[in-house]
Amino acid sequence: MKELSLNILDIAQNSITAEADLVEISLNETDTTLTLTVKDNGYGMSPEFLASVHDPFSTTRTTRKVGLGIPLLKLAAEQTDGYIDLRSTQRSADPENCGTVITAFFNKDHLDFTPIGDIVSTITTLLQGFPDIDYVFSHRIETGGAEKLIAIDTRDMRVILGDEVPLSDPMVLVWVKETLEEQYSAL
Ligand SMILES: Nc1ncnc2c1ncn2[C@@H]1O[C@H](COP(=O)(O)OP(=O)(O)O)[C@@H](O)[C@H]1O
Ligand SMILES: [Mg+2]
Repeated sequence: MKELSLNILDIAQNSITAEADLVEISLNETDTTLTLTVKDNGYGMSPEFLASVHDPFSTTRTTRKVGLGIPLLKLAAEQTDGYIDLRSTQRSADPENCGTVITAFFNKDHLDFTPIGDIVSTITTLLQGFPDIDYVFSHRIETGGAEKLIAIDTRDMRVILGDEVPLSDPMVLVWVKETLEEQYSAL
């Protein structure tokens, strides 16, 4: 994929398929590295499945036999001499603390590093498509000794919006887009 933001969209959609109601997407950047974490509270994966999920033929979907979301993220990370790490607790094992955390580590200086791309669109696409889920997005950038933080938490937004206005409301989407773009342009 040309942009990591598209890989991230794919990985977040896995969380939604897994019935998560909270998806946390974090990006942590230094001068030379990028760490992506997508954490959800969905139904998780069995230990057996977890062991096989790096393999592009492991999928629980029935419409298409080959699952590619995780293998493509893995490829994007490994291309930069990075890696992915997957942790998951199944709902049947621990209903209170179930979920999945996927971490991907990238070396930004590597020739084959895929740029993050349009992450703001990834966030607004998720809000538009799945407005009943909460999202915590944070992008921490530590470069040249300074630290910047771009962040949004839909749980805080709901307090202001109330029950009447969904996250998919066009006015809300525009507000989120502008708020994030403002934070990025202030860097
Ligand atoms: N966050 C998640 N929670 C539970 N299961 C997951 C999660 N992410 C991936 N999976 C499981 O891993 C499989 C492979 O995911 P992926 O590589 O994105 O392919 P696909 O989504 O096309 O099946 C999924 O079918 C699903 O069974
Ligand atoms: Mg997928």
